[in-house]
Amino acid sequence: MRVATRMSTIGTESAFEVAARARALEAEGRSIIHLEIGEPDFDTPANVREAAKRALDEGATHYAPFPGIPDLRQAIADDATARKGFAVTPERVFVTVGGKGVMLYAIIGLVDPGDEVIVPDPGYPIYESLVRFVGGSPVPIPIRMTNEFRLDVDELAALITPRTRMIVINSPANPTGGVLTRGDLERIAELAIRHDLVVLADEIYGRILYDGTEHVSIASLPGMSERTIVLDGFSKTFAMTGWRLGYAIVPESLVATYGQLIINTISCAPTFAQIGAVEALRGQQDDVEAMVVEFRARRDLVVDGLNEIPGIRCLRPTGAFYAFPDVAGTGLSGAELAERLLREAGVCVLAGTAFGDVGTDHIRISYANSRENLSLALDRIRAVVEPLVATSSPR
Ligand SMILES: Cc1ncc(COP(=O)(O)O)c(C=O)c1O
Repeated sequence: MRVATRMSTIGTESAFEVAARARALEAEGRSIIHLEIGEPDFDTPANVREAAKRALDEGATHYAPFPGIPDLRQAIADDATARKGFAVTPERVFVTVGGKGVMLYAIIGLVDPGDEVIVPDPGYPIYESLVRFVGGSPVPIPIRMTNEFRLDVDELAALITPRTRMIVINSPANPTGGVLTRGDLERIAELAIRHDLVVLADEIYGRILYDGTEHVSIASLPGMSERTIVLDGFSKTFAMTGWRLGYAIVPESLVATYGQLIINTISCAPTFAQIGAVEALRGQQDDVEAMVVEFRARRDLVVDGLNEIPGIRCLRPTGAFYAFPDVAGTGLSGAELAERLLREAGVCVLAGTAFGDVGTDHIRISYANSRENLSLALDRIRAVVEPLVATSSPR
């Protein structure tokens, strides 16, 4: 069947494809440790599941209002006002199918053919994919380990042209775990205001932070809430990936645009799931806190373990649940090492290039897996890498 020409411009998220390949190997009887998918391994907190089940039994099986149920929009507005540090009214909140929905609407709603959008490299691959899909040009801003996986604001300034429409920032970041400082954000805000740019601020990992690291929303900085689309959601914080619930906080000037795009695509996010999400925000937060404590212990296990393997260097990220080690010392690229780890050791990780060219020397490890599996994975990685390092020279 002939597909539309524009399909030649769309990219993908290789985590899903690699996971399918790993599952096929598992079906052949291989033991695979899955470190490829960015998904908490915890169950959704019981109170949230109960609330959604109750909602179903009580008849919440119909369409919801397109922007989201009023209770959830209010709960999100209250939560965002408290945590993100700027006054959010429910009218500016839109509930979407996954955080991905927010991204889709930001890009199709605001980017014209020929517009440039600055995207992190390495970064979540869908930003770039969607920008190309609408005929825009993604402009990668390098995110380097030597700068603690924070973008360099001077480099960002040099990438801005008269065609630049939007800057995408993601803090804490996938795939690096890097976190932008308040100082970074202030300087990015200053550029956005000076050049009249929109900021898409992906804050989906905003509550997964370690070592006292502060979450700063760029929308809370002076003059920014009217030019920032905040992307957040329930997938990561509350281990609700399968519920497909995210939300946008948009400037007043984009309320009509978001409404129209939602009506044209999903009509609304699932009603009973939204009722569960109200409980996620308003109910006990102990489970979220316990998950973050566990993620931190796993981070240390993984980072310490990787740094003990010759040829691998890993920064200790202060957010999200990913490690992004530099593997150049093994003599292999990240893609080559990822392939060998899967084939020879049954450890499934992603090549750094799944997130952009700057990731060539890296692999991404999602440590959203049990400590037992992570320890086993480290042993297996060492068994593959040690002989390589003994016989090869670094790239
Ligand atoms: C940076 C980032 N933004 C957005 C998303 C999408 O989240 P959701 O599953 O809620 O669509 C992900 C998922 O991996 C992510 O890593």
